[in-house]
Amino acid sequence: MRSAPADRRQAAADVTAAAEWTAGVPILAVRDLSVAYRTRRGDVLAVDNVSFDLAGGEFLGVVGESGCGKSTLLFAVAQLLVPPAEVTGGTVTFKGTELTGRTERQLAPIRWKELSVVMQSAMNALNPVKTIGAQFADAMHAHGVADKRQIGERSAQVLRMVGIDPIHLGSYPHQLSGGMRQRSMIAMALLFTPDLVIMDEPTSALDVVAQRSLMVQIKELQQQLGFAVIFVTHDMSLVSHFSDRLLVMYAGQVAELGATRDVFDTPRHPYSRGLLEAFPSIRGPKVPLTGIPGSPPDLARLPAGCRFAPRCPLVADTCRDQAIGLFRVDDVLVRCVNYSNGVVVGD
Ligand SMILES: Nc1ncnc2c1ncn2[C@@H]1O[C@H](COP(=O)(O)OP(=O)(O)O)[C@@H](O)[C@H]1O
Ligand SMILES: [Mg+2]
Repeated sequence: MRSAPADRRQAAADVTAAAEWTAGVPILAVRDLSVAYRTRRGDVLAVDNVSFDLAGGEFLGVVGESGCGKSTLLFAVAQLLVPPAEVTGGTVTFKGTELTGRTERQLAPIRWKELSVVMQSAMNALNPVKTIGAQFADAMHAHGVADKRQIGERSAQVLRMVGIDPIHLGSYPHQLSGGMRQRSMIAMALLFTPDLVIMDEPTSALDVVAQRSLMVQIKELQQQLGFAVIFVTHDMSLVSHFSDRLLVMYAGQVAELGATRDVFDTPRHPYSRGLLEAFPSIRGPKVPLTGIPGSPPDLARLPAGCRFAPRCPLVADTCRDQAIGLFRVDDVLVRCVNYSNGVVVGD
């Protein structure tokens, strides 16, 4: 293990490296990232060889059914995994700094300040016995801001950004509606004007109207402040109105990745098509996955061949023979043998 002074030197060097990051280079580069949960039943391969880049200010939607590895992917990117989860391969490079394998102390200067996370359970992530203002102050203290006036001003500012009257800095979480609690969490993630905000289903506990208005607000903030977003949701139709690119995830793998326009208007992977049929309209009632019978596979007992084959309406014999690579079709990556005349770009 590194000594504390060495850790601090490394952390300082990281901050410098981050400051030297320049436009044109992806803000985030994820390469061949794999994560396994080490369980008594064996390894659960929740993320399997996932690669993607994110440009500064870009909005990436990550979509897929529950259990496909979306949250695990986000946790791995943010370096928040805890045992039994383990990164088994690949790298995560943020603003030129390799994050995988770093200690908490090394990550501290980056987390919150440059890269912040709004978790799936954010509605309940607030401390029930502390006011919103006290929780914002704690976050700022933890990152070296001690000036009371500065803390007060910044806290009020970020609350206003998400459309909440700063008077609620004095409110306890239970005094706010679900939507306001969720927006408070987003405000907290913006305290340090990060370059990347990672959001895991931040709207899923809200009703359809509140979901939509929160999405609009996130998009406005993103455009105004310029941060990049990775937004995880099982609702492909909702996020497609706001994302620049879509990453469709199935059984721990990239099923399809491309510009939202391409993936949403012309979904190529049968799974992407199924997901869209599942959410016929942004305001319409949500129906179960009528387009796709069955459920995602057990990630500890993966089928041979295409992981989607057992549920695929277009399944052919060749699909079950061997693992399917990612093929490039125009500017879209698709993991489906129907596109095997395209260029193979990965496994
Ligand atoms: N703590 C855990 N222990 C073992 N397996 C887990 C654990 N958490 C998640 N998993 C496995 O990882 C898979 C992916 O989970 P997750 O990343 O939460 O998916 P999603 O966010 O897409 O719903 C799950 O199907 C589950 O099998
Ligand atoms: Mg999840």
